[in-house]
Amino acid sequence: MQNSWAFPFCIVGVTRACLIHKEDPGKTSTSAQFLLISPLLSLDLANIQENQQHCPRMKFILLASTFLVLGAINDVTAQRSRTKRELAPGLHSLGLRDAGGSYCQQRASCCPGRDDACTVPYLDTICYCDLFCNRTVSDCCPDFWGYCLGINPPTNLQKVCTKHGNNYPNGATYQDNCNRCTCTSDGNWHCEQNTCLVNPRIIDAVNRGSYGWKAGNYSQFWGMTLDEGIQYRLGTVKPPSSVMNMNELHVNMNNDALPTYFNAAGKWPGMIHEPLDQGNCAGSWAFSTAAVASDRLSIQSMGHMTPALSPQNLLSCDTKNQHGCRGGRVDGAWWYLRRRGIVTEDCYPFVGQNTNGPSAPCMMHSRSTGRGKRQATNNCPNPYASSNEIYQSTPAYRLSSSEKEIMKEIFDNGPVQAIMEVHEDFFLYKSGIYRHTPVMAGEHERYRRHGTHSVRVIGWGEDIAPSGNVQKYWLAANSWGKDWGENGYFRIARGENECEIETFVVGVWGRVSMEDVSHKK
Ligand SMILES: *[C@@H]1O[C@H](CO)[C@@H](O)[C@H](O)[C@H]1NC(C)=O
Ligand SMILES: *[C@@H]1O[C@H](CO)[C@@H](O)[C@H](O)[C@H]1NC(C)=O
Repeated sequence: MQNSWAFPFCIVGVTRACLIHKEDPGKTSTSAQFLLISPLLSLDLANIQENQQHCPRMKFILLASTFLVLGAINDVTAQRSRTKRELAPGLHSLGLRDAGGSYCQQRASCCPGRDDACTVPYLDTICYCDLFCNRTVSDCCPDFWGYCLGINPPTNLQKVCTKHGNNYPNGATYQDNCNRCTCTSDGNWHCEQNTCLVNPRIIDAVNRGSYGWKAGNYSQFWGMTLDEGIQYRLGTVKPPSSVMNMNELHVNMNNDALPTYFNAAGKWPGMIHEPLDQGNCAGSWAFSTAAVASDRLSIQSMGHMTPALSPQNLLSCDTKNQHGCRGGRVDGAWWYLRRRGIVTEDCYPFVGQNTNGPSAPCMMHSRSTGRGKRQATNNCPNPYASSNEIYQSTPAYRLSSSEKEIMKEIFDNGPVQAIMEVHEDFFLYKSGIYRHTPVMAGEHERYRRHGTHSVRVIGWGEDIAPSGNVQKYWLAANSWGKDWGENGYFRIARGENECEIETFVVGVWGRVSMEDVSHKK
């Protein structure tokens, strides 16, 4: 109460000495306050008189108060520029931002008493070198204490954080990969402790070890947490046991010798599609299905049609028990491809998904035209697309987990879809034959995460390791863009069910009629 009384009085008399003690920078004195206060003046005389020890000219003010109070209404407006400084927030409430700088020293002199002109530019504002500056809330230049008074700055103002030789105030932040670091009031940086997707320790350990593959940094993963990688970059739900136990179709292994190296793109040139990029859409279920179906349709039509089918069509329209960019099942995707069919990527381009926003609505439907064939009932979402033709498949079939049978299937009919477990080190794969490494084995569980993904396997081969051992591998296309891995592809150990890649492998035939083969191009 006492302070709030003294404040308007001091302004009336404009005694700076008084303001030093009585200022309340958070409060703007308005005319209303003055009017409200005036009838109470006499009641609070005792309090005000106590203030006189701080406020030498108070006696004069008291005598004149009855007149001055009314005059003050205009006075305050006129004198607002003089009070600006008092009302401004202190410069150092967050610590000295540039404790090492030279400011008052630039002026060569400090100013006695109050001198509102005694300033120096300071970062984006000004600081003061008059003796008045050291108030409750200080607006002194950082070198005021040292240069003008020859003493150390008050210690509570010194709590700054440093980084690369610069000082930062309390509350400043910077981003360190997936962690935000904040300058705390004790002058230390406090960083979040998330496990990052790009973990330099994994990269170093893999590259120093002899694991048969090399790891690297990916700018598209930089800044993400490992959990975000698992959450947004995969997106295949493991089929339930009813589907997992689906009868396997056994491939007729007539004694043809399979080649040591095989790449479907070599046998079927122009019919094997490039790796896709799902971005931060957890929709590998749709990407791997569209990719395998695209290749199979092209192969079966003998290249008469080479559609790049639309993952977005599946993501947005195959919504029954599927969750678009939040994950889905490959058996559901194959059901949709058989019963409804999808258009090409050109017709229905990938739009991804707003982070945590609603999924994009379905913009393509089909109707039966008899004999199981269907046609689109909508125009393409892309108005410049040339065709809204619907492509369908036959029922997908599950292969056995036999390495040789999978190879034979790829060799005879083309790429297959495989479900695999992706571990923390797989994201950082750059080249070589991948195997999940034990480099994080001794670490806390939060460094060791995995999730289910699906990919397209297009071939195989083998390498001789430095040890002299033969390293057999699968050649597979991922859906993390062409700048990931070996131009969007990766090689992974074959014949040992690495990351469960041989557990659930699916093939399919496209639905191709003779007229597709003869008329389309
Ligand atoms: C003025 O500076 C001194 C340090 O020299 C400090 O102890 C004191 O609290 C400051 N006064 C105000 C009002 O900020
Ligand atoms: C990884 O890449 C990002 C972005 O490209 C870069 O800012 C970061 O410094 C790199 N980190 C390492 C450990 O190389």
